[in-house]
Amino acid sequence: MTGQRLAGKSAIVTGAGNGIGRAVSEAFAAEGAKVLCADIAFADAEEVVRRIGEAGGQAVACHCDVSDGASAKAAVDRAVDTFGALDVVVSNAAVFVPITPLAEMAEDDWHRTLAVNLTGSFLMCKHAIPRMQAGGGSIILVASQMARVANAGQTAYCATKGALVQLAKGMALEYVGDNIRVNALSPGGVATDRMVRRFGDLEKAEREWGAKHPMGRLGRVEEIAAGAVFLASDESSFMTGSDLLIDGGYAAW
Ligand SMILES: NC(=O)c1ccc[n+]([C@@H]2O[C@H](COP(=O)([O-])OP(=O)(O)OC[C@H]3O[C@@H](n4cnc5c(N)ncnc54)[C@H](O)[C@@H]3O)[C@@H](O)[C@H]2O)c1
Repeated sequence: MTGQRLAGKSAIVTGAGNGIGRAVSEAFAAEGAKVLCADIAFADAEEVVRRIGEAGGQAVACHCDVSDGASAKAAVDRAVDTFGALDVVVSNAAVFVPITPLAEMAEDDWHRTLAVNLTGSFLMCKHAIPRMQAGGGSIILVASQMARVANAGQTAYCATKGALVQLAKGMALEYVGDNIRVNALSPGGVATDRMVRRFGDLEKAEREWGAKHPMGRLGRVEEIAAGAVFLASDESSFMTGSDLLIDGGYAAW
């Protein structure tokens, strides 16, 4: 355990089984939160819960496909039933589809990208907000530096990430009266399996993608999780409708 900045809070993290979601789940638990680790890859979520338990934290695993409304609602219900309340939602799940110019993109890949990256956040928020209105809370939509700049071959991905920033702003205005804060969190390139899928291995990802960041490297998952802890905690109590960019300077070029 490292601290108690999220003591007494209960949270859902989607895409919790790997990469940034796993690091966010572990950081939340280390700060005293109870965490529902939701992922379409249930075994990976279970493994994260096991690691959290070993470290002395509290978490449960939940199978969830965020692109399916019933599944998103079931995850929210499970968190409230298990923990008694819901204070924090981190909508982090995203699919990885082949990098290709738009005209060559398969229609299915377009639909899946929107369904998971964007509609998934809508569905999680649609079901979570009514359960948060009594006590307030913090919603964090994991976007990307690709919400502000684009990358050839990733146009659909960039479109969903830009839309997430606007989704956060709209919901921030709609639910400010319920004391629900909504912010986006935008990582730059981070060393996760997503990078391995894209570049073949992390060394190549560091060389080719890390070098595109003014800091000359990829981010670490812990550096993104630190931002999520801040947005989830009362330390960010005057922040809503914002986009916290943690990108090694990528968008500053
Ligand atoms: N890694 C990066 O360089 C980077 C950069 C900017 C933004 N991001 C964003 O950060 C988030 C996490 O990225 P990551 O690199 O950790 O990704 P990742 O691919 O390593 O992990 C994504 C997780 O989401 C889960 N998932 C996929 N589809 C799902 C669904 N339908 N329902 C529930 N879970 C589902 C996967 O099983 C996996 O555990 C994503 O939103 C991504 O776009 C990542």
